[in-house]
Amino acid sequence: MPLWLREKETTMDTRATLILCNVTLPTGRVADITLGDGKVTHVGAVRGMADRIDCSGLLVLPAAVDIHVHMRGGSQSAKEDWKSGSMSALAGGVTTVVDQPNTLPPVTNPSRFGDRVSDALNNSLCNFAVNSSVTPDTHLPSMWEAGAMAFGETFFAPSSYGDGISDAALSLALKDIQSLGGLATIHAETVSDLTDTDLVLHDQVRSPVGELQAVKAVQRLNTTGCRVHFCHLSTKRSIDAAAGSVEVTPHHLFLSLEDFEKNNPFGKVNPPLRTEKERKHLLGKWDRIDIIASDHAPHTLNDKAQEFSRAPSGIPGVETLLPLLLAWVMNGKISLHSVIQKTSRVPAELLGIPPAGFKAGDRADFALFPKVPCPVTAEMLHSRCGWTPFEGHMAVFPTTVIMGGRVVYQDGEFFKSEPRWFSGKGYRRHHYYP
Ligand code: DOR
Ligand code: ZN
Repeated sequence: MPLWLREKETTMDTRATLILCNVTLPTGRVADITLGDGKVTHVGAVRGMADRIDCSGLLVLPAAVDIHVHMRGGSQSAKEDWKSGSMSALAGGVTTVVDQPNTLPPVTNPSRFGDRVSDALNNSLCNFAVNSSVTPDTHLPSMWEAGAMAFGETFFAPSSYGDGISDAALSLALKDIQSLGGLATIHAETVSDLTDTDLVLHDQVRSPVGELQAVKAVQRLNTTGCRVHFCHLSTKRSIDAAAGSVEVTPHHLFLSLEDFEKNNPFGKVNPPLRTEKERKHLLGKWDRIDIIASDHAPHTLNDKAQEFSRAPSGIPGVETLLPLLLAWVMNGKISLHSVIQKTSRVPAELLGIPPAGFKAGDRADFALFPKVPCPVTAEMLHSRCGWTPFEGHMAVFPTTVIMGGRVVYQDGEFFKSEPRWFSGKGYRRHHYYP
């Protein structure tokens, strides 16, 4: 590997596992970064002897934290499982994912939560956290003690593999979550009883107005001031109304329903792709968006290639999240700083996990990018679902990904990793896990 050099140094740092040389920091300063114990140990002249990577000419970013993925597994392993989903994450520069609880069966009790964590501990290549379902029969305090990172996504209206929750049950759940000191994450939609036989109707059945009403209703029902995070908001007006943290997906930023044939189920997702006009308004809210998360919701080609109203909602995206945004950075549409904030710093802060970054003590998770965009193709991606709605979009993929101070992915190859489980702040019990 031409990038690698091994040299003797006079100032030793015995903890060093890797040295990133000639890194251009966000301030413009060029420095060497020494990594050890899973952290940044020093920024400046090289300390210690370890493998080195010359980062001249590369864009070095703190790796992303994708707080909204559906890693599937179990009976849905043909769509995705922890292994394929985490490979897809790493190859896109994402080293930490937060798994959503609408699995089959859903994560509604501590024993299922424990199974989910064990599955990830055994099979994931990347760091992870697992959320708890919010349903009338979920005992939220037990899930908090079992280690749930956050509560939800809570389905205000039904979506794939999730029933909508009643106003009364949501109000009670928000009280419980508030008293635990947890975070409620909300899938805010309202669904009309029309049949959606194409993308235009899908956008009307789960309409922008319905999303706005759901956001307002959640806030009305939140009488105790629970911390609320709004998942995948898809319109400017619901962002304006949201009093909580705001997440937006790449598919709502990069795609509109006009990009697809009207009855193409591959564009079917909840909340729906909106009109091009609405997409542009959404983009206008860039500065208010706290977090970009993928809502990676893989379904197989066969699942999707059904008649529109029968096809499941959801599209994959964990691997293309950062690469698509970086193509926009390179053509000057958005700033690099804002991408680092929305994909890495703010999500880590929201979850309360150590931030990845360039300061001593930061989590040593990085992704190294060449400054060359290329068109996305499904073949280059690692999700088991085998397709992407971003085919042909320009993107910048990482050549090297570092997790816990070690190279875990390089030029299409994966190396041994030591994934961490980030439990939530309420974690107490140990007997569910190996
Ligand atoms: O389109 C969606 N698909 N929206 C969701 O909220 C769930 C997801 C899934 O799990 O497939
Ligand atoms: Zn959702």
